[in-house]
Amino acid sequence: MEEKINEISKLKEMALNEVRTATNEKELDEVRVKYLGKKGELTSILRSMGSLSPEERPVIGSKVNEARDEIEQNIKLGEETFEKQELERKLKEEKIDITLPSTKVRRGSKHPLNRIIEEVEDLFVSMGYDVVTGPELETDEYCFERLNLPKGHPARDMQDSFYITSEYLLRTQTSAVQARTMMANEEKSPIRVICPGKTYRRDDDATHSHQFSQVEGLVIDKNISLADLKGTLEVFVRKMLGENLELRFRPSYFPFTEPSYEVDVSCFKCGGKGCNLCKQTGWIEVLGSGMVHPNVLKMNGYDPDKYTGFAFGTGLDRLAMFKYGITDIRLLYQNDVRFLSQFDRLDR
Ligand code: DAH
Repeated sequence: MEEKINEISKLKEMALNEVRTATNEKELDEVRVKYLGKKGELTSILRSMGSLSPEERPVIGSKVNEARDEIEQNIKLGEETFEKQELERKLKEEKIDITLPSTKVRRGSKHPLNRIIEEVEDLFVSMGYDVVTGPELETDEYCFERLNLPKGHPARDMQDSFYITSEYLLRTQTSAVQARTMMANEEKSPIRVICPGKTYRRDDDATHSHQFSQVEGLVIDKNISLADLKGTLEVFVRKMLGENLELRFRPSYFPFTEPSYEVDVSCFKCGGKGCNLCKQTGWIEVLGSGMVHPNVLKMNGYDPDKYTGFAFGTGLDRLAMFKYGITDIRLLYQNDVRFLSQFDRLDR
């Protein structure tokens, strides 16, 4: 018995010694396996208890258990120490230097044209208009005929068109949506819409692009007069380009309106004194407009004796160019990030 007890305390001392000299958690685990594991040295003493006398058994058993507990406790303490050391090492080594400059996150920005479209939509929606759309591949019927421009009409030359077939073309003007909206309205009830969208003509220079953008406006109701047209366009132009601007309605010709006007605005760059932007005239043309021609009402199912209306159309590219000082319309369609990224500043 004495012998056994000595053996146990020797094993314990050896184990504790190994715990003390262990340099990491893995080594501690090895000590655990070596002495306390299933085939461990202390465990094997327990296993051999069968050969002991009944008096010896409880004494040896409790000695072994004491030794086990002490070893296990020391291993645990050792593990905790290693864990703490590891944590400290990580905290020291993986410290984040918040003074380092961060990498720049590149954000996209709204395209200047979309900015203008949203602004126009917000304004007109606030005045009770609906926003409608129409197809870019349009028929001759809607683009011209239903707008009082029969085949062979000389005013067709005002717009150089991309015909796909003799009947289909890329729409040259959003005015096509006027006819579509009137025709689609089966009850022939009052209309108040704007239609922003892409348009196409055979042009290509600094101020003209083969593809550009327009917004069309159409109001039809009883007793609509020129005063309504003037008031609406004044609000529109001043809101978009500047509250203190003057408007000038110049008689003009469009086949779908009678009378027709082109609207000039006092030059927002020089205030009307004359500069390169307004070509020294003090005025800049911004809109086409007029009272809806009775023929157009009639052709699209509205009784011109009951209803009157006004319409207007303007180039959104021109508005964007004026507003942001862009000198070449083609920049709006080239998707050059160097150009577009200048507009992200407006979002901040
Ligand atoms: N569609 C015309 C153009 O592209 C602009 C225009 C003029 C639209 C007069 C209208 C209008 O609705 O009444 O030049």
